[in-house]
Amino acid sequence: MSFAEISFTELRAVGKPLNASQNQKDIVVDSLGERVRGDFPILRDGALCYLDTASSAQKPEKVIECMSSLYERGYANIHRGVYDLSASATERYEAVRSLVKDFLSAKSVQEIIFTRGCTEAINLVAYSWGLSNLGAGDEVLTTTLEHHSNFVPWQRICEIRGASFRCVGLDAVGRLDLNDMRSKLSSKTKLVALTHLSNALGVKTPLAEVVAMVREQSDALILLDASQSAAHERLDVQSLGVDFLAFSGHKIYGPSGVGVLYGRREVLEEMPPFLCGGDMIRSVSIEGTEYADLPAKFEAGTPPIAAVIGLGAAIEYLNELSFDAIQEHERALMDLLETAIGEVSGARMLGPAGERKGLVTFTLEGVHPHDLAQFLASKGVAVRAGHHCAQPLMKHLAVSSTTRASLGLYSTESDVRRLAQALEDSLRFFLRR
Ligand code: ALA
Repeated sequence: MSFAEISFTELRAVGKPLNASQNQKDIVVDSLGERVRGDFPILRDGALCYLDTASSAQKPEKVIECMSSLYERGYANIHRGVYDLSASATERYEAVRSLVKDFLSAKSVQEIIFTRGCTEAINLVAYSWGLSNLGAGDEVLTTTLEHHSNFVPWQRICEIRGASFRCVGLDAVGRLDLNDMRSKLSSKTKLVALTHLSNALGVKTPLAEVVAMVREQSDALILLDASQSAAHERLDVQSLGVDFLAFSGHKIYGPSGVGVLYGRREVLEEMPPFLCGGDMIRSVSIEGTEYADLPAKFEAGTPPIAAVIGLGAAIEYLNELSFDAIQEHERALMDLLETAIGEVSGARMLGPAGERKGLVTFTLEGVHPHDLAQFLASKGVAVRAGHHCAQPLMKHLAVSSTTRASLGLYSTESDVRRLAQALEDSLRFFLRR
C-alpha cells in the first residue's frame, strides 16, 4: 500500500501512537491549514500544492490588500512631508516598528532597524560593526550549518580586515558540534554568527547552550539568523540572550524587499552607519555630517515603505493565529511528511530524525534532485531542489544537491498526500518501478 492510499487516521498512527481514548473525531491534523487556506488567494482554488514555504511564504489577502490600498489611497514618502498623506504614511510605518518591537520582545523601538531583507541586515552588522571592530588576531566564528547569507559576509569582512574566519563543525547528521565550538571559542572570538533553524535541514541549533558557552568563554557578540525560525515560533530577544537578530519579511507571510535587524541598543549606539544618504543624518555641511540617532542612523534613503507596512499586516496576521496553534499544526503535519517521504523506495531523508522542523530534505536514489523537482512541478507540486544556499553543509553531508519539501501554516494533509502520490509516480517515470 502506498502512502497516498493510507487513511488519514492510519497515517497519524504511523507518525505518533494514538492515545487509546482518542477517536477519529479528535484528530484533526490539518484544521489550521484548512481553516486559513481561504485567506491566501493563490491557494484558494486548490490547484497549487505549495511545499516551498522555507524559500518564501505565500501572502494572505490581508497583506496584499494592505499594500495595494496603501498604494491606491495612502502612499507618500515618510519622514519628509508635512501634508496629511505623508504624516499618515509615517505614522503607519513607525507603528510597524512598535509591532516588531513587541513581536520580538525588544526593549525599545530604537533597537528595530528596517532593512531590505535578512541578507542586508547581516551585511549591515558585518560592514558597520565588523569594519570598525575587527582586525588582525581577531576571530569571527560561524557554523557549517549556515545559509550563505550568514557565512559569506563574515568571510568577506574577515578578508578585508585581516581577521580569521572560523567555522564550527557538525556531527554526521548535521547537528552543531558543541565540543568543536567549545574548542574554537576564546578571547580572540569577537563575534559568533549562527542560525536559529537550518533552512536546509530543519535542525535547530541549541541556542541556550551556545549562548551560555559564548558568554563563559569570550566577550563575543552573538548574531542570530532567525530568517527560518521567525515563521514557526515566538522569538523573544531578551530571553534568547543574543546581541543581534535578523529575519526577513517574505518568510513570515509578508512581502519581499523588507527585513529586520534587532540590535541591542548599547551595541547599535556604538556602531557607525552602514549605508549613507538621506534620512540618516542630523545635519550635513561641507565640513562634515552628523548622523541621526537610532534607528534612523541605519535607515538611509527612502525605505521600502509599502513593504514595511505589509510586514506589519503579516505580523498582525500571525499574532491573530497564535504561534501555539501554528506549532501544533506544523508538528502534526511534519509527522505525516516524514512518514510519506520515508515510505518512498530509495528516498533518504537528511538531518536528524525526529528533530526536523517545518521541512524535509531528501535524495531519491537514481534521480537527480532537479529532475525530481521538475517532475513534481509537472504534477503541480512546488518544492525546492539544489544546494539551498548552503554549500558548506552540502559538502559536509557529501551531496551536491537535494530536494526539499517545506511546510507553512496553510499546508494541509492533502498537500502531503499529493506530494506522496507524485513521488510514487516519479519512481515509475524515472526508474520504471
Ligand atoms: N533561503 C531561502 C531558502 O532556503 C531562499 O530556500
